[in-house]
Amino acid sequence: MPWIKLFNSEAEAKAQVALTKAKAVLADGREICLAHTPAGLFAVENLCPHLGDALSRGTTNYLNEIICPWHSYRFHLATGEECKGRTRPLQRFPLETREDGVYVHLPETP
Ligand code: FES
Repeated sequence: MPWIKLFNSEAEAKAQVALTKAKAVLADGREICLAHTPAGLFAVENLCPHLGDALSRGTTNYLNEIICPWHSYRFHLATGEECKGRTRPLQRFPLETREDGVYVHLPETP
């Protein structure tokens, strides 16, 4: 699957997703979670691997984790790992900032 453009610039992306927050965005019809932390922007699957709440409704912390709003499992945004290994890691998607915008790369769906 090709890279999919999400925003026209990194500034636009950061304006849409406030620092320490997350937001659900559509990429080629697929909902993903975009999180913004002091370490940058991260794209991960939106549905929590535990019981499926939307991580985009969660918050982030100073450890660069996203915290699920339901049972507060914490996933590291750089690795996808849950902090205590209570469920599988989050699927992460590469983000790339180019001259003309911010792009995400999604794997092929089976
Ligand atoms: S649904 Fe996310 S921690 Fe339970």
